Amino acid sequence: MLSSSPAPLEDDPGMTGDRVQAPKGTSDLLPPFGGRMEALESAFAVMARLYGYQRIITPTFEHTEVFLRLGEATDVVRKEMYSFSDKGDRAITLRPEGTAPVVRAFVEHGVAKREPLPWKVFYGGPFFRYENPQKGRTREFRQVGVEALGDPHPDLDAEVIDLAMSFLRSVGSGELDLLVNSMGDSVCRPGFVRIFSEFLSDHADDLCAECRERISTNPLRALDCKACREVTEHAPRFVDHLCDECRAHFGAVREGLAALGWDARVEPRLVRGLDYYTRTTFEVQSPALDAAQNALGGGGRYDYLVGEFGGEPEPAMGFALGCDRTLAAGAGIDGERQIEASVVDVAESGAGRALLAELRRAGIAADAAGRGRSFRSQMRACERRGVPIAVIVGPDEEARGAAAIKDLRTGTQIEVPRAELVQQVKGLLS
Ligand code: HAM
Repeated sequence: MLSSSPAPLEDDPGMTGDRVQAPKGTSDLLPPFGGRMEALESAFAVMARLYGYQRIITPTFEHTEVFLRLGEATDVVRKEMYSFSDKGDRAITLRPEGTAPVVRAFVEHGVAKREPLPWKVFYGGPFFRYENPQKGRTREFRQVGVEALGDPHPDLDAEVIDLAMSFLRSVGSGELDLLVNSMGDSVCRPGFVRIFSEFLSDHADDLCAECRERISTNPLRALDCKACREVTEHAPRFVDHLCDECRAHFGAVREGLAALGWDARVEPRLVRGLDYYTRTTFEVQSPALDAAQNALGGGGRYDYLVGEFGGEPEPAMGFALGCDRTLAAGAGIDGERQIEASVVDVAESGAGRALLAELRRAGIAADAAGRGRSFRSQMRACERRGVPIAVIVGPDEEARGAAAIKDLRTGTQIEVPRAELVQQVKGLLS
């Protein structure tokens, strides 16, 4: 059942009591975390452009229909959509993922006829899933990702995986496990699904209730069920039942990854939460995180999805990374700029205001130490903030057309003519 109404009030501690809090499953990224998130997303944009991708921005909400095209048996669609009716009674869903909107836009704008293929786009921003919030799993989270539409070659698969891995490496995400699998295509999948469902039916008594239901709706998802692990441990493996073309494609992808220096482990149990995958699927896991939230990201090929959206079929491949988890895994990224100089103004004539503007226009990150407060209190504020340089201006300095510069790291203080101030501060900071 899709949830068609907003969260009930008792579900949301933020709406009870006197104080208003952020909704359940969301979080505030206070400094410096907001800056770290921004820096992560900017670094992704730089890396994606290096591989030939261009920015796409799609709406954060879509007609619910867009996501229903992913298949109503898909877990994300069936259980996790943040859906509601708007004031015009339209069924709207906050985007749970980025692939469906990109495919919708590709078809809607007739991109295949207007642009050279593959069409390579990247995106980033907030996504929404109506989950039971827990560590690493929230109702609003951020992703960055790429989609390349119109290229069936296995080298594209290897390139996309290489981009994901290279990015995670470049931001210092620590040790990474790369898992790959193949989900076959319309030639071999039906046969394997039949074999797999028969296996599940034979062991139905040992399956959980949900997986018993899945036998007829979405049997392969049972591979992802922890409760049924003992049963599926001995299940037939898709990699052993691929048709010749899928086997050759999978072999070429693995060869491509090895040539690029990535050690990919074939994981026949890897079935991801979205059902659009054909042939290659992959996931990048971080051993530094708990097992329940260790997937930093993943993706794969989805050669039939453009057709599901009514376009001329085009093969495609992409991935998305969860930014929140990537930062939690220890991505060594720092987005904030520290204040380099504080202006301690005891002149009360506007001299400090002018100095501050001059420093900033010269590209020095500067701020007021504490407007209207005493000299001592302003100096204390500089120390508390760990500012390296204090620029001090009082009535005496002002009368002399000068300013004092105190290097708070060494305690040394000098007086300089106003005209030399910027140059002197820059010299101390270099
Ligand atoms: P996904 O595996 O559903 O794939 O999501 C990618 C990543 O987003 C996950 O590995 C995880 O890091 C993060 N993520 C997902 N749900 C949550 C959540 N509730 N809280 C925090 N982080 C979360 C996709 O979304 C596909 N669209 C990837 C793709 C692109 N496949 C082909 N192209």
